[in-house]
Formats: sequence, structure tokens, C-alpha cells
Amino acid sequence: MRSAGIVGLGSYVPEKVLTNFDLEKIVETSDEWITTRTGIKERRVAAAHETTTAMAIEAAKNALKDAGVSASEVDLIIVATVTPDYFFPSTACQVQHAIGAPNAAAFDLLVGCTGFVYGVIVACQFIQTGASNCALVIGSEALTRIVDWTDRKTCVLFGDGAGAAVVASVPEGRGLLAFDLGSDGSGGPLLKAEALQSCCEMPSSVGLNGRPTIYMNGNEVFKFAVRVMADSTLAALQKAGLTVDQVDLIVPHQANIRIIDAAARRLGVPMDKIFVNLDRYGNTSAASIPIAMDEAKRSGRMKEGDIVVATSFGAGLSWATFVMRM
Ligand code: ACO
Repeated sequence: MRSAGIVGLGSYVPEKVLTNFDLEKIVETSDEWITTRTGIKERRVAAAHETTTAMAIEAAKNALKDAGVSASEVDLIIVATVTPDYFFPSTACQVQHAIGAPNAAAFDLLVGCTGFVYGVIVACQFIQTGASNCALVIGSEALTRIVDWTDRKTCVLFGDGAGAAVVASVPEGRGLLAFDLGSDGSGGPLLKAEALQSCCEMPSSVGLNGRPTIYMNGNEVFKFAVRVMADSTLAALQKAGLTVDQVDLIVPHQANIRIIDAAARRLGVPMDKIFVNLDRYGNTSAASIPIAMDEAKRSGRMKEGDIVVATSFGAGLSWATFVMRM
């Protein structure tokens, strides 16, 4: 089997910034509460034209440019999102058309915040087996469109944006070294946004704009997140035959600094080995890891040859980790 890995990264975030001070005017909250409980200082909010699809397209173009690959070379497009513009067509098909990738198969993945990591692992299987030669994996979210702006427990947490990776064959010893995937549907009710069936019968969580909104049991999700991020990281590293000391950089799902801090302590990893940008973007769900990886690369924190761990948790409940030599 061939080796497969990320060969290019790109991202796009909306221009509009919503600070904690702005939120103080919307709900009963404070910059001090949000900062100490989550680490978030501001997040981006998509304008009307910055749809999930539009942001995915920009992130994809940036990733292709970074990889030095033309859209016609792409033969697989996977978009991870929980906030598609349409139930159908898929966001991936719209991206395929917009970037001009006539040779690509395209589909969406719905794995909550874990979607991008799942997507990269799926794409690597296609590349390793030779079924594909060049894949685009995108995480794109317009979460502020399904936030309940009257619920201070959730509305302070989320932001919008998109990130993308080009996945292709790489020299032996590089790319995906190991991964860990998991799910536990019994925890589904802890973190959800209702769709057709339930919200038509009983609109228990429909916001002012008539759309389903995010419901979350924050305390339970917190405990789950700390446990699975540490356990999944260790499981993936064990499969790769590596220890945490050999890891150059961990890029965790950017949900809450206290979750990352607690997971780091469980792993015995110093915070300077962990990439954090949630202070500027909040939780962008499936977009959080590719945006973070793109920033890590552009800022020089993530270099060629580095052993990188990306680990995520999310709705489902679900979790996923990959270990990659860049
Ligand atoms: N501003 C001010 N006060 C608030 C706010 C707010 N924005 N939100 C909650 N509070 C209040 C509560 O009402 C409560 O007050 P009370 O004691 O009078 O009832 C108090 O603060 C404590 O509330 P808790 O929910 O216990 O606060 P906690 O320290 O657990 O923090 C938080 C809440 C930030 C949501 C935390 O539980 C958390 O981060 N959970 C995980 C969230 C997460 O990352 N989810 C993943 C998102 S989805 C995904 O990534 C897949």
C-alpha cells in the first residue's frame, strides 16, 4: 500500500468579528466569564454571502494553491459539515463544480466536530489503496446560523469558518502513521440540533429564525471530551509505535481551553506542544482542526518532517485521532 498524507492546507474565515464584549450586549454574560471558562475572546460570524459552501470553496482554493495542485487533478472531494446550505445537493458536489474539478467524486460527511479528522482518514484509505490520487478534505461551518442567541450556555462558544487539506501519496515513512476512530451513539442526546422529523412534530429547540438550534449538555460533553481526546491520542500513538514524547505538535479540536488543558495534563504533555487558536475563532466544529493546522503551518509551528497528532471529539458522540509525519 502507498503512503498517504496531507500535502497542502488552506483556510477561510469570515471578516466579521464578534467579541465577548459584543456578546455582553446580546445575553447576560461577561468577557471575564467567557474567557476564564472557555478561553474564547472572539469568534467570526459569516455574512449572508459567506455560506458554508462559499467558505468551503475559498478554503479549498487556498489548499490547492498551497499544495501546488490544479483542481483538475483532484479525484475525490469530502466535505465535513453539520451546517450545510442544503440537505441536498451535497456541499461537496457544489465545491466540485465551483472549483472546476470534473474528475472528482464528491460526498459529505456528518460526524459533528470530528468530521474533518474522519475525512482525512477516509481520504488516506482511498489514496493508500490507489483508488484515488488526489483528495480534497474540507471542514466548513456556519454555526452562528444554528446558534440560539438567547442561550448564553451555548451562544458564546461557536464561530464560523472553513479549512481544507489536500491529501495525496507521499514518500514512505511520511503521511498517516496511525489513527483511532470511535463513536458512542448513547451520548447523542447530549449534543444535538434537531432536523426534520422531530422538529416538525415538536419544535422543542427551534430558534427565533425558525431554524433548529444547538442543544448541549456542557458538563457531560466536557467530561467526555477530556477522556476521549487523551485516550484516543494514546491509542493512535500506540498503533504508530510512538510515545507522546516523540510528538512535535498536537492540534486538538478547538472547543474550550479547559478541555485542552485537562487532556494535556492527562497525557503529560506541556501546553507548548499544543496548538491553540480558539481565543480568536471559538469552536468552529469540523473547521477547527484544518484552520488550526493551516495557521500552525503558516506560522512555522508545524514543519516538514514533524510528527503531528490531530485529535477531535464531537456530536454523535464521536471521536477521532490521526498521527501523521508531515
Ligand atoms: N455567561 C455567564 N454565565 C454563564 C454563561 C455565560 N455565557 N453560561 C453559563 N453560565 C452560568 C450558568 O448559568 C451557571 O450558573 P448557575 O450556577 O447560577 O446555574 C454557571 O455559569 C456555571 O455553569 P456551568 O454550565 O456549570 O459552567 P461550566 O464551567 O461547566 O462551563 C461550558 C460551561 C463552558 C459550556 C463547559 O461546560 C464546556 O466547555 N463544556 C463543553 C463544551 C464543548 O466544548 N462542547 C463541544 C461543543 S460541540 C463540539 O465541539 C462537538
